[in-house]
Amino acid sequence: ADHMHHASPSSHAGHHTTTSTGTSCESLTATDSDAPVRDFDLTAASATIRLDNGKTVDAWTFNGISPGPELRVKEGDRVKVTLYNKDIEDGVTIHWHGVVVPCSQDGVAGVTQDAVMPDERFTYDFIATVPGTYWYHSHQMSSIQAEKGLIGQFIIEPKTDPYAVDRDMAGLLQKLGSQYVFNGMTQGLIVPGKAGDTVRLRLTNGANDTLEMGVAGAPYRIVAMDGNDIHKPGLLEGKSFNIGAGQRYDLLIQLPVQGKVVVGSTSEDSLKVTLGIGAEPVTTASGDLFSFLDYGSPVPGDKVDSLTIDKSFELKLGQNVFAKSINGKSFHEIPPMNVKEDEHVRITVSNEGGGDHPFHLHGHTFRLLSKNGEPVKGSPIYLDTILTKKDETYELYLVTDNPGLWMAHCHNLMHASMGMSMMLNYE
Ligand code: C2O
Ligand code: CU
Repeated sequence: ADHMHHASPSSHAGHHTTTSTGTSCESLTATDSDAPVRDFDLTAASATIRLDNGKTVDAWTFNGISPGPELRVKEGDRVKVTLYNKDIEDGVTIHWHGVVVPCSQDGVAGVTQDAVMPDERFTYDFIATVPGTYWYHSHQMSSIQAEKGLIGQFIIEPKTDPYAVDRDMAGLLQKLGSQYVFNGMTQGLIVPGKAGDTVRLRLTNGANDTLEMGVAGAPYRIVAMDGNDIHKPGLLEGKSFNIGAGQRYDLLIQLPVQGKVVVGSTSEDSLKVTLGIGAEPVTTASGDLFSFLDYGSPVPGDKVDSLTIDKSFELKLGQNVFAKSINGKSFHEIPPMNVKEDEHVRITVSNEGGGDHPFHLHGHTFRLLSKNGEPVKGSPIYLDTILTKKDETYELYLVTDNPGLWMAHCHNLMHASMGMSMMLNYE
């Protein structure tokens, strides 16, 4: 099943849990370790939620709420999450978006596990290796289930934070019913804070659309993208940024001595957070769009153009009259990217129309090499989801170090359910 109701490369192969050469995804599990264990329970259930504007929404919830509880662990922890499905008839799973987990823990129904049916349980078990801002969502018919509310934030705190932060908060942007909400609130969030406080705001776009975000009232830094630190991030002022579906941006903001800071969408009033005390700036800043190409500083000695490439793939994201497509094909008709362990792989992704396509790869973090032929000149940029707009081309680079069968798809989950879904397969 999953977003691919019609056909998945896996149903095609007959065995949904093996790679093309027969490695069992279920055998790829967390390595034993003495790491401290953090246990969580998440119950998926349908519920009627009353929003802060009085409206009610028929939603699917984790532990009775949407978004589900924010899960916070420390770098190095062993994470065990027991999912119980109370009454979601099609079954549910949990995918740990952006977290590099062993294949068996990736939570893709029909590929890495069967959907967890009503009154069944499944325990996810993995090590929280790389600190950062992540999120989780059901990956069974995800275009429906994520939209209905089965999503939440997952934060891996670093052992030592490179920044001295007074407040660390996560903000999940999503659509519930027809309403945009920010941490479940329709009217934005108000966070009191003292003058001079430094706030880390971890933004996740859990909706299907690209959101333009701005910051008014103070300069800010984008210190991490998709959970990966930017090297020596610079101050931004009067700049906005596009956060694609599935992406995360960590902002660092120092509250001014007087007045408030507003962080929010430049088009959706509900998607804003107001920090600090005193007078509020009149608008949420928008301005030139932030470009990552020359943001932050290069790491000395690190040369993008000297990376070796063993294998290249080209993916053209677009649409035909019937469906959303990759290289003109949909679902299992798209040949998988076949790789072996320890290969250096370049994936060139271009957007040939049909909307914004935030392209997400499971199980790996990739490095951005270039945009429209222009190399990244500033900080190295590592992502798991790259927002592509019409006529843009991005080159991605990764080392194949996590064997299994992994999905690659547009994170506008509607597009994924209309065909823009394929596999990365370890032979
Ligand atoms: Cu967040 Cu396959 O998705
Ligand atoms: Cu798309």
